[in-house]
Amino acid sequence: MSFQLIANDRAMILPNNRPHTTVVLAMSADGKIADQGRSPARFASPADKDHLEEQIAAVDGVLFGAGTLRAYGSTIRVLKPQLIQQRYQKLLPPQPVQIVVSASGNIDRQLSFFRQPVPRYLLTTSHGAKPWQNKTEFDQVIVCQASTKSKINWINALEILSAMGLKRLAVLGGGEIVAAMLAADLIDELWLTICPLLLGGNNAPTPVGGEGFREIVAPRLELVSAKVIVSEVFLHYRRQREDDLSTL
Ligand SMILES: NC(=O)c1ccc[n+]([C@@H]2O[C@H](COP(=O)([O-])OP(=O)(O)OC[C@H]3O[C@@H](n4cnc5c(N)ncnc54)[C@H](OP(=O)(O)O)[C@@H]3O)[C@@H](O)[C@H]2O)c1
Repeated sequence: MSFQLIANDRAMILPNNRPHTTVVLAMSADGKIADQGRSPARFASPADKDHLEEQIAAVDGVLFGAGTLRAYGSTIRVLKPQLIQQRYQKLLPPQPVQIVVSASGNIDRQLSFFRQPVPRYLLTTSHGAKPWQNKTEFDQVIVCQASTKSKINWINALEILSAMGLKRLAVLGGGEIVAAMLAADLIDELWLTICPLLLGGNNAPTPVGGEGFREIVAPRLELVSAKVIVSEVFLHYRRQREDDLSTL
């Protein structure tokens, strides 16, 4: 069964000093992106995997937190020949850059991620960059430290990625990364797939972790489309900003 609602499909306006960002996550019907043990989420259907691959094929870079990399050990590549062909037609390389965010730089070199044929960047602090100096695992190590030193300066980081030619980013989680980028108002769109299971657990991660937002200042969303494929719901949201509200 398939059902689709498209509420508002206005063209997306690309920001000019940073990449356009789209969060892509699958969650349980009770809003968890993994179980309480933070094991890798494998509950999405083949239709959701196709959707994820399409989103990845549409961008210049894929960004995710070290927690996500530690959970999965590897990343998702574009594999479908027609998607790779479409990238060539747009004069894009076959694979988007895979950008890992880690303040500590503490990432196991034995992970299969480092043997995957993809370009790899590390976004980190000066402390986190030290173990990767003069090493070949990452093609670029980008140091972009906030004044607290244990965090990334996100605005600066996205400006650097933009200057490196990355115009569109897919943000693949986890909840900590999404929370930090939302707090800095750096998220433009979200794709959330609701999957038919209940994970429960107070400590199971959700699409947005961190300290949370008070309702009055919580980021507002506009529904772009909603699609049902068998038992999953694919929700596409756009971040609604004050400028959007003032033009209504
Ligand atoms: N269902 C889905 O679609 C989906 C997708 C992705 C992930 N997941 C699940 O999500 C879980 C992982 O999510 P998570 O929230 O625990 O971790 P995460 O957001 O992937 O990564 C957290 C790590 O990212 C780094 N980090 C986060 N914010 C930072 C900042 N502001 N500055 C610098 N570094 C920062 C830190 O790395 P360091 O500790 O190295 O400093 C932190 O430990 C896993 O269970 C995974 O299965 C599910």
